Amino acid sequence: MADASLAQRAEELRRELNYHNHRYYTLDDPVISDGQYDLLLRELREIETEHPELLTADSPTQRVGGEPSSAFAEVEHSRPMLSLGNAFDFDELAAWHRRISGLLDDEPFDMVCELKIDGLAVNLTYEDGVLVQGATRGNGATGEDVTRNLRTIRTIPLKLEGFVPQGSQRLEVRGEVYLPVEEFHRLNKEREERGEQLYANPRNTGAGTIRQLDPKVTAARNMQIWVYSLNSTDGTEFIESHWKALEWLGNVGFRINPNNKLCHTLEEVEDYYRYWLERRHDLPYEADGVVVKVSPLELQERLGVVGREPRWAIAYKFPAEQATTRLKYIGINVGRTGSLNPYAVLEPVVVSGATVQHASLHNEEYIRRRDIREGDTVIIERAGDVIPQVVGPVPTQRTGLEREFQMPERCFECDTPVVKAEDDAMHRCPNSSCPAQFFELLKHFVSKGAADIDGLGEQWCRILIENGMVFDVADLYSLEKDKLLVLERMGDSSSDYIMYNIEASKSRPLSRMLFALGITHVGSEVADWLSNWLSKKYLGIRDLANVTEEDLMTDIKDIGPKVAKSIIAWFQTSENQEVVEKLLAADVKLEQDSLPEIAAAAPSEAAPFGGRTFVVTGTLSSLSRKDAEAKIKALGGKIASSVTKNTSYVVVGASPGSKAATAEKLGTTILYEDDFISLLESSKGFHPNLWSLGLDAMHSSQAV
Ligand code: IVH
Repeated sequence: MADASLAQRAEELRRELNYHNHRYYTLDDPVISDGQYDLLLRELREIETEHPELLTADSPTQRVGGEPSSAFAEVEHSRPMLSLGNAFDFDELAAWHRRISGLLDDEPFDMVCELKIDGLAVNLTYEDGVLVQGATRGNGATGEDVTRNLRTIRTIPLKLEGFVPQGSQRLEVRGEVYLPVEEFHRLNKEREERGEQLYANPRNTGAGTIRQLDPKVTAARNMQIWVYSLNSTDGTEFIESHWKALEWLGNVGFRINPNNKLCHTLEEVEDYYRYWLERRHDLPYEADGVVVKVSPLELQERLGVVGREPRWAIAYKFPAEQATTRLKYIGINVGRTGSLNPYAVLEPVVVSGATVQHASLHNEEYIRRRDIREGDTVIIERAGDVIPQVVGPVPTQRTGLEREFQMPERCFECDTPVVKAEDDAMHRCPNSSCPAQFFELLKHFVSKGAADIDGLGEQWCRILIENGMVFDVADLYSLEKDKLLVLERMGDSSSDYIMYNIEASKSRPLSRMLFALGITHVGSEVADWLSNWLSKKYLGIRDLANVTEEDLMTDIKDIGPKVAKSIIAWFQTSENQEVVEKLLAADVKLEQDSLPEIAAAAPSEAAPFGGRTFVVTGTLSSLSRKDAEAKIKALGGKIASSVTKNTSYVVVGASPGSKAATAEKLGTTILYEDDFISLLESSKGFHPNLWSLGLDAMHSSQAV
C-alpha cells in the first residue's frame, strides 16, 4: 500500500500537470519547457505504475485528447482540390490567354494575380462560423484530417467574428499554410546549436510541421496561412467574382494576401509578374510564381476543368535561379548505409538569396553524364528554392587544367574495397563498422523521426565515437551519467537530459526503431509497413532473419525485390544480429505497441492463446519475462500479475516464489519453461484448431 506522502505527491503532480496542460493548450502560453513537463509526467506515471491504487480517472496520464494521435483520419474533399497548369514564360501565358479568350467568344474578362506560395494547401470547413475541420490536400480527392494542428495557427480564425451565419451554413475555404522564412532560419539555428541535422527548406519543414502527430510541435512553430479561395456557395451566392470573394473572406476574418491584384489586361499581369520576380526574396515567405485566375465566377464555370487542372487559372512560374561559380573539387562522404556520396565544393556564390558552397552530385553516373570535372566553371541552380543542384559545366570556360573525377577504389576512411552492384546507382563501403559510416548511422539513429534522443547532437555523436564509448548504436544504452561527465564540456544538466532521453527512447514505436537502424532502402514508410506486417504475422524482430523475400513481397505490396533483399540481408548479418540482441537485452522495446490490441481484436478462437490469461513468474533462461509476455500477448493471451481462479496458465521459471505456490493451491495449470517454449514453437504459423487441441492436451496432462 502506498504511504500518505506518495498519495500527496501524486495529487500534487496531477494538479501541476493539469495546470500546465491548460497553459499550453488553452492559453498557448506555457511556463515550463516540454522537457520539464515530461519529467513531471514521468514521475506521476512511475508512481501510478508502482501503486495502481493511486491512479485516478482524471489523471493527466490518462488523457487521450492532448496526446499525439497515431495517424490522421482520412477526409474526402467535398470538391476535388485541383492543381494548376504551368506557364514558364510570357509566350506560354499569352497562349493560355488566347485559348480561353477563344472559348469565351473573345468576351473580355478581369484576372486576379496572386503570389504562388510554396507551402501546403489546406481546406478549412466552418459550420455556423466555427472551424470544425481542417484537412490537407492529399491526393486531391482525399486528404488528412489535421484539424488539431491547424487550430494552433493563430491566423486561422476558430470563429468568424464578422460573419452572421444564415441558418445552418457550411463554409469551406482553401489556402496555403506555410512556415515563414525567418521562422525556418530560427529553427535551423536552434538545430545547429544542438548539433542536429538541418532542415532542407521551409516548404518541407512546414509540411512536416502540419503533419506532426503532436500538436505541441506545430504550436511551437509560428506557422501562417494565406487564404486564396472560397470553395462553397452556401449563403454566399451573391458573390459574383473571385476578386469579390477574396474581399468578402477578408471581411469575415481570413488572412488574405495584400499583394493580390486585380488586372484587366495581360500586360498588367506581366507587370505584376516582373515586379515580384525582382522582389520575391524580400517577401517573408517563399513564392515560386504567380497564379493568374479568371475573376468572374460565371466564366470560371463556363471554362471548367480538364483532368485535374482548371482552365480558368494558371501558374506563371518564376524561373529557377541560376549562377555560375568554380567547382574547386569533388568531396565524398560516407552515408549511414555505406554509400559513397560525391558532393561539389564550390567557390561561394549567391543563388536565390542564399550562399551556396556545397551541392550534392548524387552519384558517379550523374557526374559522368554531365561531364562535370574538378576545376570546371559550373552552373548552379536552386529550383523552387530547394536544395542547390549542379546543372552542368560551362565547357567554353575550360582551361585544360580540369581533372576528371574517379570514384575511389577503397573507402578513404577504413580502406575496405568499395563495391558497386549493377542495380544500385551508388558505390558503397561494405564494412558496416566503418567509422565514417557509423558516425552517419549514429546521427541518424538519434534523430527526431528515429530513436529521437534529443540533446545528443552531431557533436556529441562524434565525441562519443572518438572516445571509444560507442561502437554500435546499442552501446548508447550502456552509457552512464558518470561516464558522460568525464567528457569535456559535458555538464550535469546536459548529461541528465541525455540520459533521460536515452531512457525514453527505449519505448519508441517499432516502426521508428526499424527506421533508426539505418537499413539500406528502409525509410520511415517502409519501416511502417514492416512493423505492421510483423505485428499482423505475430512475428518478432528476430524473425526477420528467417523470412524470405517472397514473404515480404507477397504481403507488403509496395516492397520490391531490392528492398526485400536489403532487409533480409541486414537481419542475417551476424554483426547486426548482435546489435538487435544488445538492444533487446537493454530493454529497448522492439515490438509494436498495437500488437496486443490487434491480437485482442481478433476473434478469440483465431489466436492460439485467445481468451486465456497467463501469469509469468520466476526467471526464464531463454528469454526475458518481458519477451515472454510480449509473445503471449502477440498470440492473443492476456497477462495478469497475480494468480487467481481466473488464471488459465502460470509460466514458471527459476526461483518462482509465491505465485507458483498459489497456482498449485488453486490447481492452475503450470507451464515450465520447456513446455512454454514448445507451445510457442508450435504456434509459429499456427492453425487455430490444431493449436487449441495441443494446448488442451497439455492442460490435461499437467492437471494436478
Ligand atoms: S489556387 C484551382 N492560389 O499551388 C486552384 N493555389 O499547383 C488551385 N498555391 O495545390 C489552387 N498559392 O497548394 C492557388 N494563390 C494560390 C496559391 C496556390 C499556392 C498552390 C496550392 C495548389 C498548388 C497548385
